[in-house]
Amino acid sequence: MTNDAHRLNRAFWDERVPIYVGSGFYDVEGFKAGRISLGPDEVRDLGDVRGKRLVHLQCHFGLDTLLWARLGAEVSGLDFSEPAIDAARMLARQADIDALFVQGDVYDAPALLGRDFDIVYTGVGALCWLPDIDRWAKVVADLLLPGGELYLVEFHPAIWGMEPNAVTGVPEVRYDYFTRPGGERVAVEGSYAQTDAATAHNETVEWNHDLGSAVTALIRAGMEIRELREADASYTQRFPFMVQGDDGHWRAPPDRPNLPMMYTLRAVKQITSLNYRELLYDERGLPLGGGDFSLTDVKPALKR
Ligand SMILES: C[S@@+](CC[C@H](N)C(=O)[O-])C[C@H]1O[C@@H](n2cnc3c(N)ncnc32)[C@H](O)[C@@H]1O
Repeated sequence: MTNDAHRLNRAFWDERVPIYVGSGFYDVEGFKAGRISLGPDEVRDLGDVRGKRLVHLQCHFGLDTLLWARLGAEVSGLDFSEPAIDAARMLARQADIDALFVQGDVYDAPALLGRDFDIVYTGVGALCWLPDIDRWAKVVADLLLPGGELYLVEFHPAIWGMEPNAVTGVPEVRYDYFTRPGGERVAVEGSYAQTDAATAHNETVEWNHDLGSAVTALIRAGMEIRELREADASYTQRFPFMVQGDDGHWRAPPDRPNLPMMYTLRAVKQITSLNYRELLYDERGLPLGGGDFSLTDVKPALKR
């Protein structure tokens, strides 16, 4: 990422942290009262996370990270915004939840957090901040143990470059689908969490990653794609005509064509003859868990 893009994006996010933490959109009070606000699909898909080591990339102020901890995972969260990480640590203290929050760039995650995670989790609005999807996929693979899983839920790239027409609300194509390497300069005033918030840092540089690039990057990084689900529902009201269902998600009404709004991508780090030893031995070559291992110990990971 160019320094300019990095500086603009960090200033944008740093300024918005207090707005998000105080907004009804994230409902921090509900979280403190014990509410689990992760998508129901996410909770069902990942199943029993108790005792699993989960890293949340671009964790923002840590709300989703802490929700996974509440469901029993051993969690780490990483974000490049210092105020976001400070807020995440404070929230963890207030809720009395064990979690490790680290400030840093996604591309430095394996060096900062290690390489022995069972799950890499990444939520909506994350990938568009990253210039290089191949490098991101490699980071994901590096963080995971062989057999570990990537769970990615994202806004759909087909909709990313569209904005509602100011008068009719109809989606209009505003930006490229295939972002050029330098990124797209985007002007965003306020925030999705509070549209009337006064903000000074309103310019970002973003990259839309087409679905094919994300999938191919993961395959090249040694990940096996298990599921790619596109959905006509969104966590947010992306266009004014969308209506909210009983599940809380927003969709086009039946008299309008539906569009892909979000996608879920699940992939597993392949176990190979070269990397299976990482499941059995630590970095010094000593047996994990005190020895007495055989290939059968790899099987639980294979099943995930
Ligand atoms: C839309 S937020 C993610 C929101 C999250 N899915 C949620 O709903 O809480 C995007 C996050 O990415 C972080 N971010 C952007 N670029 C980054 C980078 N290069 N490295 C680490 N974090 C980054 C921002 O600070 C921000 O917290």
